[in-house]
Amino acid sequence: MTKILIVYYSLTGNTQFIAEAMRDSIEADILELKPIKELKADSGSRIILGGFQSTTKKKPELMDFDINPLEYDLIILGTPVWAWNISAPMRSFLSMFDLTGRKVALWMCHGGDGIKAMGRFKEILESANIVESISFQEPLKKESDENKEKAIAWAKEVAIKV
Ligand SMILES: Cc1cc2nc3c(=O)[nH]c(=O)nc-3n(C[C@H](O)[C@H](O)[C@H](O)COP(=O)(O)O)c2cc1C
Repeated sequence: MTKILIVYYSLTGNTQFIAEAMRDSIEADILELKPIKELKADSGSRIILGGFQSTTKKKPELMDFDINPLEYDLIILGTPVWAWNISAPMRSFLSMFDLTGRKVALWMCHGGDGIKAMGRFKEILESANIVESISFQEPLKKESDENKEKAIAWAKEVAIKV
């Protein structure tokens, strides 16, 4: 049987909302990335602090997890956009594993424009085999039912590409 892993980071719940919609619609394990020192999700300074982490390519230490992503046939990776780039915790995760030649599918959640960030996400993973990618604008706040349906349809499409 093919194995699918959903790996995501979420500070304010949007990326988590999509991750959970996907997990409920396809057969997959799920791994939430948690930095040991998390930003305060309800603080205005999160944009400055997280933006700084992202633009300076910081890799905050993550809490331990006992899943080995390399045991999976497809890894679906989800991150919020931070300063036109991937979030710092996702960068930490990607630095821990060599995903060269691995099948991956990418999603991002953004506040306004995710195009540049998706380009960078793909560049970071250029040695991997990127099978699909998709972006969502604030899916928790805006058109959440539609975004949930979009996530489910996308996950099903991705799952048959394994
Ligand atoms: C540190 C930080 C930087 C952000 N930078 C951008 C950005 O460059 N472009 C954008 O469209 N949204 C940006 N956003 C908004 C988030 O990408 C958006 O709210 C996303 O849905 C958050 O996902 P989450 O709830 O899973 O954390 C930023 C948010 C944070 C916290």
